[in-house]
Amino acid sequence: MNVLGIETSCDETAASVVVDGVKVLSNVVASSLKEHAAFGGIIPEIASRRQIELIYPVVQMALNKARVGFDDIDALAVTHSPGLMGSLLVGLCFARGLSRALNKPLIEVDHVQAHLYANFLKLPKQPKETAGTATLPAIGLVVSGGHTCLYKIKDFRRFESIGQTRDDAAGEAFDKVARILKLGYPGGPIIDRLAKGVFSTAIRFPQADLKGSLDFSFSGLKTAVLYYVRKHQLDKDFSAAQVACAFQKSVVGSLVEKSLLACQRSKIKILLIGGGVAANSRLREQMQAQAARSGITVFFPPLALCLDNAAMIAGLGSVVASALTGKGKFGILTQRF
Ligand code: KG4
Ligand code: ZN
Repeated sequence: MNVLGIETSCDETAASVVVDGVKVLSNVVASSLKEHAAFGGIIPEIASRRQIELIYPVVQMALNKARVGFDDIDALAVTHSPGLMGSLLVGLCFARGLSRALNKPLIEVDHVQAHLYANFLKLPKQPKETAGTATLPAIGLVVSGGHTCLYKIKDFRRFESIGQTRDDAAGEAFDKVARILKLGYPGGPIIDRLAKGVFSTAIRFPQADLKGSLDFSFSGLKTAVLYYVRKHQLDKDFSAAQVACAFQKSVVGSLVEKSLLACQRSKIKILLIGGGVAANSRLREQMQAQAARSGITVFFPPLALCLDNAAMIAGLGSVVASALTGKGKFGILTQRF
């Protein structure tokens, strides 16, 4: 079954063709990110205008790269939410129009849940042992620019929310701290790179203490960084890299602690991570090391599938499509999932 996925929830315009919910034939991502950098965050009006310009060429390129035509597509999948309204509308309207023109079913999927599906995909040159070996039931942690959530996943139609951030998302905290340190946007990759160069630092930032809860909180940490930077002199008392390192340690500490607590409480030994912050090198390293001590197996998507992409949308859409069809026959035209 060939599924064409379309993702337009924020600044990325993405399209992908995935076979049988696993094999990624193409994964095209265009982004207006550079145009937003000067503003230190995404400007919705710019994002949606670029979506309109890019959607058709990106879909066409995804089909060309996969060496398939519209006739070879069995179903379509598109992000229905969450995201910027103007951006979402471009993908949704395009996909609904295409679905009706081609008379092919359309599955509308949740962007946040799709991030976790990235662990089930196989990229063309991905080594066998790291590709698509994740299983369910699992605990899922989504860490992105807009979301930080923990799920218990029994199957791909049942995501049970068991924890979330009470204020900033983890990626948002990375971006805001980078802004305080005047490092540029998006902050996550810059902080990650800077922190790698720090051997040790005496700076310590607190980790939110939400006793017993599986929720997260990062706004206090962000404020602690702000007060530290105001009180001390940059380049004399501290370097941006040292603050970046101490901040990252605190965020990663919370993410690892709550994820492992969720596994322990639910007695589930599989942990899936997804979202842009899943690209963070300290998170990848610490989560693997600490989970291994508790006998928990952790899955991170390959870097190309951590950030927003349409392969994860096509993949999750495929699971729903095949569950609905039984033997490949669809009884409905549009299904919201
Ligand atoms: O999943 P994503 O592409 O978009 C959303 O759905 O939000 O995530 C983008 C977020 C940004 O906040 C960015 O700073 C963060 O992911 N990010 C990282 C890294 N790479 C991207 N955060 C920490 N370390 C990274 N290496
Ligand atoms: Zn995302």
